[in-house]
Amino acid sequence: MRFSRFLVVVFLVMMARCSYARKGLEVVKHLNKLNKPSMKSIKSPDGDIIDCVHISHQAAFDHPSLKDHKIQMRPSYHPEGINYESMKVSSQESKDTINQLWHLNGKCSEGTIPVRRTKKEDILRAGSIKNYGKKNSLSAVAQPNSIDLDLINQSGHQHAIAYVEGEFYGAKATMNVWDPKIQQTNEFSLSQIWLLGGSFASDLNSIEAGWQVSPDLYGDNNTRFFTYWTSDAYQATGCYNLLCSGFIQINHEIALGASISPISKYQNSQYDISILVWKDPEQGNWWMQFGSGKVLGYWPASLFSYLTDSASMIQWGGEVVNSASDGQHTTTQMGSGHFPEEGFGKASYFRNVQVVDGSNSLRAPKDVETFTEQPNCYDVQTGKNGGWGSYIYYGGPGRNPNCP
Ligand SMILES: *[C@@H]1O[C@H](CO)[C@@H](O)[C@H](O)[C@H]1NC(C)=O
Ligand SMILES: *[C@@H]1O[C@H](CO)[C@@H](O)[C@H](O)[C@H]1NC(C)=O
Repeated sequence: MRFSRFLVVVFLVMMARCSYARKGLEVVKHLNKLNKPSMKSIKSPDGDIIDCVHISHQAAFDHPSLKDHKIQMRPSYHPEGINYESMKVSSQESKDTINQLWHLNGKCSEGTIPVRRTKKEDILRAGSIKNYGKKNSLSAVAQPNSIDLDLINQSGHQHAIAYVEGEFYGAKATMNVWDPKIQQTNEFSLSQIWLLGGSFASDLNSIEAGWQVSPDLYGDNNTRFFTYWTSDAYQATGCYNLLCSGFIQINHEIALGASISPISKYQNSQYDISILVWKDPEQGNWWMQFGSGKVLGYWPASLFSYLTDSASMIQWGGEVVNSASDGQHTTTQMGSGHFPEEGFGKASYFRNVQVVDGSNSLRAPKDVETFTEQPNCYDVQTGKNGGWGSYIYYGGPGRNPNCP
């Protein structure tokens, strides 16, 4: 009797070990898939390791539909009308004030791309391989036209955005960069541009780019440059940065997911980053540019369904996760953590907000609307002036006397 009980215990322990070992093996396998062999590795002061990976060995080419894809080294068209060769030269000459921290310790050479190395801890923090690098929720996108107001509030994701609807072939903005405080590690705060296509159901197509603070994703509170895409409303397809195959990078200077420096300070120096996403009218690929003339790469048209045509909505603004863990609203901040009313140097902004129209030209958006679930927690305001064109102020502190 006692002996058989002992056997059962031994058996259970062995089963547990086995499944633990299997999980460990799967993590290692996933790491090997994400972390491609590199020509060189650079240790960033923030603890990141940046691998310089040969451009043709990047994870994008693991995608079944990209196996025979011929890499495009430049877009066939640029909405800013700049000659690609002269653009390359001028971007080398101009001193962008915004940098990525890892630049302090080295560079990747041409023909390679800088990839932030995924560590075992990164995957373990996500709870599962499937969740790692994903938003996993349709509530990650603001649904300004939703008639289901209860649903809007239940999701836990909160937004303060400006948006336009129509037929768009790209979007641009210069975004103020801050370091919002995050109450707990499973929450995040981000500021970005969304290009959306399709309905807000299971088939939503989305391309997103901006900056974020996400302790679970990166293991720290740093402000990081990021991208996201999905072609099925955040279900099976898509991910942050290069954490799944999809986005094809051609640039050797900018690493997706790397820390941005310097950061704006309240009533002090302000820093911003420019992001332009546009559709190549010939190839149909969606290209992205960072700063002045740094063309980072593209999302191949074949990844998408609706976005193979055009985007039907563009959004600019912020998103946070409110897990309301203690029964109160989170204290996680959006933008600078201050409300739009405070204005420049205090509230976070998007300036020179533009869309790419049907004739592939950049222009100020018409009929800009705003949306926020709880304006007492995070709010948004729009405006226009000579120097800044169309602009928005957005953000807030989260929990406060009016947002209990
Ligand atoms: C969401 O919840 C807040 C707080 O309970 C409430 O003030 C707000 O009106 C709700 N918004 C919607 C759209 O139902
Ligand atoms: C991130 O910030 C929170 C407070 O907002 C702090 O408790 C935590 O220790 C920070 N984490 C790291 C890794 O610095």
